[in-house]
Amino acid sequence: MKAILYTEFGPPEVLQIKEVEKPAPKDSEVLVKVHAAPVSYGDLIARNFKNITSREFHMPLPLLLPMRMIFGFSKPKINILGSEFAGEIEATGKDVRRFKAGDRVFGYLGQRMGAYAEYLCLPEDGSLAIMPANMSYAQAAAVPYGAIMATSLLRKANLQKGHKVLINGASGGIGSAAVQLAKYYEAEVTGVCGTPRLEYVKSLGADRVIDYTADDFTQNGETYDLIFDILGKSSFARCKNSLKHNGIYLLASFKMKPVYQMLWTKIAGSKKVICAMASEKPADLVRVKELSEAGKYKAIIDRCFPMQQAAEAHRYAESGHKQGNVVITMEDHR
Ligand SMILES: NC(=O)c1ccc[n+]([C@@H]2O[C@H](COP(=O)([O-])OP(=O)(O)OC[C@H]3O[C@@H](n4cnc5c(N)ncnc54)[C@H](OP(=O)(O)O)[C@@H]3O)[C@@H](O)[C@H]2O)c1
Repeated sequence: MKAILYTEFGPPEVLQIKEVEKPAPKDSEVLVKVHAAPVSYGDLIARNFKNITSREFHMPLPLLLPMRMIFGFSKPKINILGSEFAGEIEATGKDVRRFKAGDRVFGYLGQRMGAYAEYLCLPEDGSLAIMPANMSYAQAAAVPYGAIMATSLLRKANLQKGHKVLINGASGGIGSAAVQLAKYYEAEVTGVCGTPRLEYVKSLGADRVIDYTADDFTQNGETYDLIFDILGKSSFARCKNSLKHNGIYLLASFKMKPVYQMLWTKIAGSKKVICAMASEKPADLVRVKELSEAGKYKAIIDRCFPMQQAAEAHRYAESGHKQGNVVITMEDHR
């Protein structure tokens, strides 16, 4: 089969199409013929992981070493990127019960990656579900990562109908899912993003949008029940006056300081800091399928690139111009 491989860390050009052995499913695994895999934040970071500085690494520094052990120090340890996908089940292992050949599925592979390929195998009890019937493969492929992360992290904030929520980083993978899920919970949502993506975030359902290059949301006098910062670009100190009494400052990306603030605010003060790692629950994928089919959740595709143009796809995703998802498609090229 063909796969987009990288054997050196570096710019988009390190992505090359190569022939590799087609995987075979184990007894409890399914073999998926991949149709589409988006370019996510994790793909861009992993492609150039050797050159990521501690400043660019948005998690506590003690995690950098285990991450380097996963992704490699001087050469990539994982040679096929792609953490989410949509495709069709081609074969199943003998113990598989939930899926059958021909099922159209979408799924999330996490740090294991491997979706930039014509085929992949994963356990039937992994983050895998029948994809929304009203979505194309490209659309469905762009759902799992953001939806799983946002569902899991928002769960920590106990969002209620009528809550005022601000999402800092509303145009990215996690943020665009969080905007839609918060609207589904009937919250009032303000999305913060860069200038080119204001309309995109509005189209996801945000009630208000703020351009972080022009306005500082901590200085406009508004207060929120929840501030969800995806990249950790704000700080608790700056956001405190923008939180209501009992408000929550939730971080998807964080260094050690917010972890200490989380411990401290657990015992003192009404405003809480939450730093959390998302957990993968296959049931969350089933739930987002239902929301999509009910018209409550969408995936907007900016551009699709055939697998031969994977480097261009990465370059475009990094260009700062994208509005929505950039997706690599495999099916035209077998
Ligand atoms: N806690 C967990 O379990 C967990 C799990 C997965 C990932 N993460 C973390 O989540 C982050 C990636 O999230 P993602 O996939 O959603 O990334 P993404 O798709 O790259 O989106 C990043 C978002 O941040 C916005 N942004 C960039 N600079 C900003 C600034 N100065 N102020 C405000 N917003 C800014 C971007 O806006 P524009 O593009 O419009 O400029 C975009 O909306 C990583 O740091 C990763 O470590 C955490």
